[in-house]
Amino acid sequence: MRIDAVAARDFNRIKVEPMTGAIGAEVSNVDLRDFDDEVIAEVQQAWLDHKVLFFRGQDLTQGQHVEYGRALGELEVHPFVQHVEKHPEIIVLDSSPQSFLSADTWHSDVTFREAPPLGSVLFGRVIPGWGGDTCFANMELAYDLLDDAVKEQIDGMYAIHSYAKAFGRGMSEQEQAEAQEEYPDQKHPVVRSHPVTGNKILFINRQFTLGIDGMTADESRPLRRLLVRQAEIPEVQCRFRWEENSIAQWDNRCTQHYAVPDHGGQRRRVERVTLLGDRPF
Ligand code: OGA
Ligand code: MN
Repeated sequence: MRIDAVAARDFNRIKVEPMTGAIGAEVSNVDLRDFDDEVIAEVQQAWLDHKVLFFRGQDLTQGQHVEYGRALGELEVHPFVQHVEKHPEIIVLDSSPQSFLSADTWHSDVTFREAPPLGSVLFGRVIPGWGGDTCFANMELAYDLLDDAVKEQIDGMYAIHSYAKAFGRGMSEQEQAEAQEEYPDQKHPVVRSHPVTGNKILFINRQFTLGIDGMTADESRPLRRLLVRQAEIPEVQCRFRWEENSIAQWDNRCTQHYAVPDHGGQRRRVERVTLLGDRPF
């Protein structure tokens, strides 16, 4: 199928080059250690246009990473993943065998919260010589590509999102009960609206969505499967090859991502700050 690229826009300060017709752009001519309001405003506009932005050669300390994140919005502390000592806002995804955090399932982040994140800024600290790319999917386009009959069927539906599949493993029963109390399952609309653009978004993901509100697991299984697989269509995706000091910054409301674990035994360490979002409607 043919996918038309979003119209390229000229900015005063930053340079933006689309990565695919569907999603993603590389931003250059910018130093994220040293930004001002105009640069941030341009980045925000490009972010809305392309949904995921990529930067290269940004030699940021953890403190500068946090500062850049704060320039984009308010940061959240992850409910479950351990943060670095000095900065509660930074979580680490390290490929060491002890790390239980696997991102090789299509997902958007933390959708089990009442107000899931607006977005994330992921920094490449240690990058393997090959493999370990991250794929991103445009979930507005994923919605557009559904059959009309399915769009009608899911209009007004809610899905159940839970922390448990991704983060419940390795917890004791007591810990699970506590987590469940603090982060009870959430009902979010299967089709949400982007709070800025108003666009419709398919908002259901394999990692956190258990099922559909008002249906048994058996009843909802075929529909759930059909919907979560929309992220797998190549035409809605882009794929990012990391380098050290690269950044990937995604709008968590209208995208999903998938980290490809094909880097063998090589170490891969990425660090994330996450922006507070609002309740999906
Ligand atoms: C994340 C995530 C993907 C990656 O940080 O939320 O899923 O490529 N990371 O490490
Ligand atoms: Mn993620």
